[in-house]
Amino acid sequence: MNATEKAVIRSFLDTAQDYLSCGYRTEHKREAIETIENIAAAITRCRNCKLSELRKNTVPGEGVKNPMVIVIGEAPGADEDAQGRPFVGAAGKLLDKMLSAVNLSRETNCFIANILKCRPPGNRDPEPDERAACIHFLESQIYLLRPAAILCAGRVSAQTLLQTNAPMSAMRGGKQMEYSLKMGELVLKIPLFAIYHPSALLRNEAWKRPAWEDLKAFRQFLDSNLQRMRT
Ligand code: URA
Repeated sequence: MNATEKAVIRSFLDTAQDYLSCGYRTEHKREAIETIENIAAAITRCRNCKLSELRKNTVPGEGVKNPMVIVIGEAPGADEDAQGRPFVGAAGKLLDKMLSAVNLSRETNCFIANILKCRPPGNRDPEPDERAACIHFLESQIYLLRPAAILCAGRVSAQTLLQTNAPMSAMRGGKQMEYSLKMGELVLKIPLFAIYHPSALLRNEAWKRPAWEDLKAFRQFLDSNLQRMRT
């Protein structure tokens, strides 16, 4: 049996298990059984795209369960793949510093996740079929966590959530946008901001100043708009 055949059988068995436990891919299922831990477990089992054949670990995301902000990056890199945790390499350390400068952190008031839960080889951009196979995990996380705001780290994250090809220049700059998530009858609308990806800042020092201005604008938005602010 080759790898593709094995993946098909594994996926079939996962689907059968889902069906037997609670009804196949219904909205009811999302509400009835999904917890952050269940989503992480489903990610661990996932064989829905070719990246599952290459990963060392899945990277579901981490942080508090009642986050003020969900920070969304692109995809795990080598360090994240090795540890199964998001943003733990050089870019992650910079991200943590940036968040901390505006009183945000994965320990106190944020959840950190990615568009993809497995590492693309060579850290290339996620391909459309990979995004399509993976995005329902992030949607379930957002649905469950109900963050007051979304902070997209980088172009890929913002473009994917906003379903646009707009360049970064049109999305950053402290601009308030809106993420819309339809789940059955319910439509969640969540304010969304975009900042430069920390990896881009490591490559381009000149973007650090505008990135700081963008973060300050985001914090200002939180301070003046959100009842749920907890810092
Ligand atoms: N870059 C990302 O977009 N996400 C990570 O988790 C790490 C690096």
